Amino acid sequence: MSKEKILVTAALPYANSPIHLGHLSGAYLPADIYVRYQRLKGSDIIFICGSDEHGVPITISADKEEVKPQQIIDRYHNLNKDAFNKFGMSFDIYSRTSIPIHHQTSKEFFLEFHNRGLLKEKKTNQFYDKKARMFLPDRYVEGTCPNCGYLEARSDECENCGTLYDPSELKNPISKITGEAPVLKETSHWFFPLGNYQKRLEEYVDTYSKKYGWKDNVIQYCKGWLKDGLKDRAITRDLDWGVPVPLDGAEGKVLYVWFEAVLGYISATKELSREKGKDSLWKEYWQGSNTKYIAFIGKDNIVFHCIIFPAMLMAWNDGDKEKYILPENVPANEFLNFEGKKFSKSRNWGIHVMDFLNIFPADPLRYTLAANLPETRDTDFAWDEFQARNNNELADILGNFINRTFTFVHKHFDGKVPDKHKLLPIDYDMIKLVADYPQKVSDLFENYKIRDGVLEIINLARVGNKYFNDSEPWKTIKTDRAKCATTLNICLQTIYTLGELLSPVIPNSSEKIFNMLNAGMVSWFESAKENLEVGHQMNKPEILFPKIEDEVIARQKEKYGSDDTSEFQSEDEQITYDYFMKTQLRVAEIIDAEKIPKSEKLLKLKVRLADEEKQIIAGIAKHYSPEEIKGKKVVIVANLKPAKLMGINSQGMVLAIENEEGKLQILSVDNSFKNGTRVK
Ligand code: 2FM
Ligand code: ZN
Repeated sequence: MSKEKILVTAALPYANSPIHLGHLSGAYLPADIYVRYQRLKGSDIIFICGSDEHGVPITISADKEEVKPQQIIDRYHNLNKDAFNKFGMSFDIYSRTSIPIHHQTSKEFFLEFHNRGLLKEKKTNQFYDKKARMFLPDRYVEGTCPNCGYLEARSDECENCGTLYDPSELKNPISKITGEAPVLKETSHWFFPLGNYQKRLEEYVDTYSKKYGWKDNVIQYCKGWLKDGLKDRAITRDLDWGVPVPLDGAEGKVLYVWFEAVLGYISATKELSREKGKDSLWKEYWQGSNTKYIAFIGKDNIVFHCIIFPAMLMAWNDGDKEKYILPENVPANEFLNFEGKKFSKSRNWGIHVMDFLNIFPADPLRYTLAANLPETRDTDFAWDEFQARNNNELADILGNFINRTFTFVHKHFDGKVPDKHKLLPIDYDMIKLVADYPQKVSDLFENYKIRDGVLEIINLARVGNKYFNDSEPWKTIKTDRAKCATTLNICLQTIYTLGELLSPVIPNSSEKIFNMLNAGMVSWFESAKENLEVGHQMNKPEILFPKIEDEVIARQKEKYGSDDTSEFQSEDEQITYDYFMKTQLRVAEIIDAEKIPKSEKLLKLKVRLADEEKQIIAGIAKHYSPEEIKGKKVVIVANLKPAKLMGINSQGMVLAIENEEGKLQILSVDNSFKNGTRVK
């Protein structure tokens, strides 16, 4: 039999907004760690993703900006592709659903079902917004519940009392797009008979979930849907953006975005095959007899991947064409919150991936998110935790273990791997522990317990530090050089193993570790063998994880995550005049300045505005002495919310500019400007 193949997909994000940290935790990071781990194991695996470029949200974004949908999807496809790249996602392809190959694939599925007489055409009454000239999807209509009087009821269902009703019964309907009252208008659509697959889907969920160990949250969700009973579902919409329904007389109708988005995984694999110069390659992954398919998604996508997509594939497989495999597992995560609240575009709550990565490197973020993945329950991203994970775990545990080992070996053994001599029980224990690690972590990763796997790996660094401490090489170097050499040999081999096991999680840092070791990686299960020969010359250590200072975190908290009005927009997004005018820039005179003990960067300033004084802690001590700036008139942000830097209150911010070499200059004006003058 041919070698097993693995197909991995990660949900295709909508190309109408920038991805944020919640997306990474939900689906992308766990998928990437899993795939990178499989590649190290030597698996034959492909990793598929791309932009979901159809659907109403995209047309709404376009209308709002008065541009064509194409412009919206081009912007966000590129932005998200770059953000994923910078984050270190190792997709084999990042495709998009607006390309011809995807339109063809989706039409092929629709026509296959239509030609076999599977689809039902039905007439329905739907709300139509005359001003927007479109039929309104349920979530874009709001009105008063005919049963309980709830004011925010949806077009056919009341969230408050649970009543289902005909849209014609909804009182005072309002279009959420234009705010106008919509009218009911007859339209016809094609429906997929999901109910026909009820039994087979029950069987599928039951057998696959048991055989492959689906997560509880996924099973419960599926069971909920199946229990309610599956009904026909419309798979077309009245819209002018999407994959046109490939039938005569269906002008103005497109395939429902979810019907074709899941097929986007197949189209993207076809595109990848073309790129690789072997058009039929995709079939080996989607239709092969020895291949498994894993779909990584967030919990809001479960029904589409565990019920609807499998039903579509079953329907296809009932025909006489080549058959598709079904998802073997759908390890959907719960949600990540941001500083205690849900990420929200409308409430400006959260941070986009690109904005984050413009401030911090990817690895500390990857590690923080991985150590806190919402695998079994919602979790939270907090700035303080991010700082602590970087400073206390990556820097103080992992970085420290590596750095002290390298420094010692360079100082006492010319940077060469020392020889092992007579082993003591403490050495045996360490060697044994390391030897078992690849299997231990593998068992967790294979079962999609990515978070536990990552925490397990960092534990190895913790144990490494303890082994170093307990072995006291700084003493044995004077008393028993052979014993000292043994300790360092074992520490270096441990670092090798750590470097490899961490490579799916923090790939950039892992690469640096291997540069320092002056060695390359072997396969996953070989990584705990003695891979460094005695006498092998190593390179000088470099700092892997610089500490993140309190003031840097304080600034991020100010900007992202102090209250609901804080910024949650891309740096390239435009702001209004009113928005800008909320920032009060004013001339202030520095009347006193002093150094802050234990800080190289900070100066404590006292500044005078028109008739008040403020204390500002500014990160300029490396560029200005207190004497030098006393008396200067500078520009400050006068209405910045007070924050504490190194425990000291700061009531504003001094504007400064930095050149490429890191030289900093504060913006100042001459004495003719009165204190407090507004800068506009
Ligand atoms: O939730 C979303 O962002 C969807 N665009 C995910 C689609 S996944 C797949 F079906 F393409
Ligand atoms: Zn109600």
